[in-house]
Amino acid sequence: MKRRTAVLISGRGSNMAALLANAADPAYPAEIALVLSNRPEAPGLELAARAGVPCLVIDHKRFGPDRGAHEAVIDRALRQAGIELVCLAGYMRLLTPFLVQGWAGRMLNIHPSLLPAFPGLNTHARALAAGVKLHGCTVHLVTERIDSGPILAQAAVPVLPGDTETALTNRVLRQEHILYPLTLALVASGLPGRTDPGTALLNPLPPETRAA
Ligand code: GAR
Repeated sequence: MKRRTAVLISGRGSNMAALLANAADPAYPAEIALVLSNRPEAPGLELAARAGVPCLVIDHKRFGPDRGAHEAVIDRALRQAGIELVCLAGYMRLLTPFLVQGWAGRMLNIHPSLLPAFPGLNTHARALAAGVKLHGCTVHLVTERIDSGPILAQAAVPVLPGDTETALTNRVLRQEHILYPLTLALVASGLPGRTDPGTALLNPLPPETRAA
């Protein structure tokens, strides 16, 4: 059975589009059942609507500084839609413990660096400034400390001589579009029943191949 997955976006939605494209395969273990944006003008919404995916805007501006109230509405929408997994894909809001704990082990994020290097914003410029030779992207479980949850998968790219920020951004983004669908598939196929959250996500290999 395909896992009902929501994708949360704030902008362009290219990772969301990659997830949608992969989920179109009948054999893919997750179904994108909802796309939710905190910004009504997010270009990704149009892409999702064109793909026939139910879209919802829950504009954070309506809630002023009350993050909890915003998240309560998001949480209700996710549960009403029968969502089992949540993928943050360029969702640019800090989350409170309420949403993070409510979806612990079931909420993934993609971050444009090889965590734990370069958490936060402007990762590509910072990677160039630091002179690293390898850069990349990470899919991790979301926990209360930003960009610090258990790492599920990473893809590395070289930083080439003369790289501009744009060139590096695009090189990483191409890998994001491969890594996120692969990781969601891994998680969705290992997802345990609702009564046993977490363990299979953190140990996605079959039990006989796990280290003791
Ligand atoms: C992606 O590069 C994603 O890794 C990054 O925002 C971009 C969204 O692009 N996320 C973060 O920086 C989260 N801290 P997209 O809307 O085209 O997927």
